[in-house]
Amino acid sequence: MLPVTLDRTSAEPLPAQLAGQVRALVLAGTLGTGDRLPSSRALAADLGVSRAVTEQAYDQLTAEGWLEARRGSGTYVTASRTTTTAAPQVTSRPTRLTPRPTGATSRLDTGTPFFDPRLEPGWRRAWREVSVAAPPPGYDDPRGLLELREALAARLGRTRGLDLHPDEIIVTAGTTDGLRALLPELRPGPVAVEDPGYRAAAETVLTYGREVIDLPAVETAGDLGDAVAAYVTPAHQHPLGRVMPAADRLALLEAARRADAVVIEDDYDSEFRYDVAPVPAMARLDRGRVVYLGTAAKSVVPTLRLGWLVAPPDLHELILRRRTITHAGAAWPSQRALLTLLRDGWLDRAVRSARRVYAERAPRVAEAMSPYATLAGPLAGMYSTWLLPETDARRARDAARAAGFEINLLSTYARSSGLTGLVIGFGGVTDAELDQALAAVTGALGA
Ligand SMILES: Cc1ncc(COP(=O)(O)O)c(C=O)c1O
Repeated sequence: MLPVTLDRTSAEPLPAQLAGQVRALVLAGTLGTGDRLPSSRALAADLGVSRAVTEQAYDQLTAEGWLEARRGSGTYVTASRTTTTAAPQVTSRPTRLTPRPTGATSRLDTGTPFFDPRLEPGWRRAWREVSVAAPPPGYDDPRGLLELREALAARLGRTRGLDLHPDEIIVTAGTTDGLRALLPELRPGPVAVEDPGYRAAAETVLTYGREVIDLPAVETAGDLGDAVAAYVTPAHQHPLGRVMPAADRLALLEAARRADAVVIEDDYDSEFRYDVAPVPAMARLDRGRVVYLGTAAKSVVPTLRLGWLVAPPDLHELILRRRTITHAGAAWPSQRALLTLLRDGWLDRAVRSARRVYAERAPRVAEAMSPYATLAGPLAGMYSTWLLPETDARRARDAARAAGFEINLLSTYARSSGLTGLVIGFGGVTDAELDQALAAVTGALGA
């Protein structure tokens, strides 16, 4: 008699239950190689099930190599702990990379945009369209969905002053995916990244085995040394907030020409200006030297994982060739949904409504913070950065944390610059939460 018990109320079919339990007996060593199992008829009678159940379980285990049917003799165990290489045992659950903060924590970070609930019907319409549209039958164009590239070209012309043919655009899975696509195509050498700067960019450069050179974020670029690229956020320096002045743009392009390097323009949130019109893209100045990276992370949501890349023709060809071979590309459902959001005017409405909210919240943050700290750049986008001594910044960060809010320290974006302070995002919280977080911060700074 085999020590197995079948549960007739379980959703798992009886043959699968039986096979699973016999497998477990072999793995536990209760059954060893050469042991004879009861006949399928006898086992069925013992268990009070039809013979089809035991036969199906034996057939499955035979196909998997646990059992062997010997003609005229019976069914035997062929594999057991002593004869198989032990599979690695899972002794504990995988640990999370970053422990999830306990309690209800709201993030005042730079990466969570405002999502207007009034736009939900349009959002749902886009996904309904995805559900009835036929996906491309095979691997599609590595540049991305043609209609989406057409819509993006029109939008980038209108909002960023870029005159693009749809075939010059490569749809990516976000800014960082664009950077990952570009890095293998650059000649060996370090990459200059703004300091303080976008942490994901610096980390991606390091991941690709390249050295990161610190490019002072608020100084005119002089010499790029042996850097093969300079990663910058000219429309809204991340995280200090300044707009790169025209003279500095020209100086950086000149430095890049001298070093035969490319400028990587991360244009992540340029549409969210409420003081002046969006500053035109730097790529307009020299399409032969600038690699332009855009993203839907700020105007839609980061989890859509969509972005776009425009590179000089030689790099475009190299990137495309590798993306074709490696099947790298943005997921079709996301692309198809973004197409509807663009066509329906949803994205324009989302940007307008988020801009209104940011324009109202940014001065509230400024009013609360300015008695205690210095604003690092003009008010724009969905966060503002405040210069403070590190001890004060940490005290304020800890007070916010105790009140259930997570705020980033500027020092975590800084490398050699040594700048300290707080980076306060205001897109992903409610007005009431923002007030509570600011009260905690200013309470700590004023104490
Ligand atoms: C400076 C900067 N660039 C780009 C992005 C977006 O990156 P991705 O498109 O990979 O989500 C962010 C998001 O927080 C950002 O802060």
